[in-house]
Amino acid sequence: MQITPRVFSGMQPTGSLHLGNYLGAMVNWIELQKTHECIYCVVDLHAITVWQDPDELRRAIRQVTAAYIAAGLDPKKSVLFNQSQVAVHAELAWVFNCVARLGWLNRMTQFKEKAGKDREQASVGLYAYPNLMAADILAYRATHVPVGEDQKQHLELARDIAQKFNNDFKTSIVAQGFVDGIFFPQPDPVITGPATRVMSLRDGTKKMSKSDPSDLSRINLTDDADTIAKKVQKAKTDPEPLPSEVAGLAARPEADNLVGIHAAMAGQSKEAVLRDYGGQQFSSFKKALVEAAVARLSPIADETQRLMSDPAEIDRVLADGSQRARAIAGPVMDKVKDIVGLIRS
Ligand code: TYM
Repeated sequence: MQITPRVFSGMQPTGSLHLGNYLGAMVNWIELQKTHECIYCVVDLHAITVWQDPDELRRAIRQVTAAYIAAGLDPKKSVLFNQSQVAVHAELAWVFNCVARLGWLNRMTQFKEKAGKDREQASVGLYAYPNLMAADILAYRATHVPVGEDQKQHLELARDIAQKFNNDFKTSIVAQGFVDGIFFPQPDPVITGPATRVMSLRDGTKKMSKSDPSDLSRINLTDDADTIAKKVQKAKTDPEPLPSEVAGLAARPEADNLVGIHAAMAGQSKEAVLRDYGGQQFSSFKKALVEAAVARLSPIADETQRLMSDPAEIDRVLADGSQRARAIAGPVMDKVKDIVGLIRS
């Protein structure tokens, strides 16, 4: 049972995916398919840490799966599945609930943001959310996790859990034949590109998010060309023309965000974008941005819609992916039980 390079990542099926999900994470997922064994998950168990309408949840799981495929994930090459179909995720999360410390979870900024003021009313699942995320990754002993910047802290926690598990059970791990005493790898975050943190189109200091009440704040992967154009036109800017160097974006969050989006969309650096548009007004830059966004996103929206017209086929893809995921995660969980001292038959 060697540790080999393996990629794992996931997205929550809550609402439709947006440009942040796409540029911050999915673009890298697609790239990594070319060089790595990849496992991509629709994390439905994470979604229910806050209440979801059951019919809407079913629809969203299929829609995120369809968007994965439409954006370029190949279900034959990569493993595509939904988390709840592989019981190991929940099983390993329980073991990790017993490894992680309360103090570690208390530091999680995302919990504080999501729970808001009334923390007593948050679900226990929302609090333990990062332990389930660690289980997602480590059930496959994954080594690389492509995500946006907002997941960095959760990834650090996953690394801490892997390390503490290896330490707590060192003797047992060695006795199980892992001579170097290492069972779980330390998963590396892969946070790269010019758009690791895409900001709201209405406020350059806030992250683009599914939960923002204003739909104008984000571009959804399901938006049609007119909607994309409208949202970009209405995007907040400042009165200055674009700077010609990246340093000039420092105190201009909205300009920085739009330049980053354009760069990621065109597969360029921010420097390259500013070489083309430095000194120009936002009106002409926005026109180019609309063109780039529509050219890139419209085919994804169309293909997602086409795939959604055959839900049985999507379910078949998920069933196949889940079976392949179980084949990897099952033996890992068996070893975890042996290491921890749980009897299995
Ligand atoms: P989620 O569903 O919130 O987001 C999915 C991915 O999109 C990235 N992302 C962004 N990137 C740049 N700018 C933004 N505005 C933006 N918004 C979202 C996220 O960083 C993420 O990569 N906890 C995770 C899901 C998860 C997971 C995992 C990820 C569960 N288990 C295991 C990796 C490995 C989440 O809620 O992502």
